[in-house]
Amino acid sequence: MKYFIDTADVAEIREAASWGLIDGVTTNPSLMAKTGRPYHDVLREICEIVDGPISAEVVATEASAMIEEGEKLAKVHKNIVVKCPMIIEGLKATHALAKRGIRVNVTLIFTPLQALAAAKVGASFLSPFIGRLDDIGQDGFAIVEDMVQILSNYDYPAEVLVASVRSTTHLLRAAEVGADIATVPFAVLKQTLHHPLTDLGLERFLADWRKTNQKI
Ligand code: E4P
Repeated sequence: MKYFIDTADVAEIREAASWGLIDGVTTNPSLMAKTGRPYHDVLREICEIVDGPISAEVVATEASAMIEEGEKLAKVHKNIVVKCPMIIEGLKATHALAKRGIRVNVTLIFTPLQALAAAKVGASFLSPFIGRLDDIGQDGFAIVEDMVQILSNYDYPAEVLVASVRSTTHLLRAAEVGADIATVPFAVLKQTLHHPLTDLGLERFLADWRKTNQKI
């Protein structure tokens, strides 16, 4: 499974990329707004750090304006993937952008049929929002399982990008159900790497080794 990082914070992206774990980045208007910096500057900087798909979302809600914004965003760097919301205007824009060779990530997917529609119009990435389904008491992963199955039934090239990941359990389940990608906030990504027994074990190994007075 590919790991994307879900943030527009360049320091976090730089740090996680240095671990060798990051295959791409997802941003959204809320994450961008948090940076307080010009959109294109942040995108350019991210593209210098990570050599993989970098999702940048449109903010228009009408197809022709979305296409215009998408084309502008795609010009920032060859790795930019335009993010369009899962609304009818977003599907129109996805279809048009895909026809022009621009990759699109359809975001805010909450049902398998929304995912199927996005795949049919040419989306490269499909983003189901797991955490937000959990927030309203639904099983977010049921839709991911269905999406994985549907895409394999018909051989669509779109990749399932599990989004709105809030916990290490979400990440584990994404891998268990065979999602192509999970996009993970920095804090959650870090949590997945730690275990107290790893730290304790290392402490003991090093203490024993120090007693030998040797160097490697
Ligand atoms: C994904 O592309 C979105 O940016 C993100 O995962 C949304 O997560 P949230 O529901 O925690 O805001």
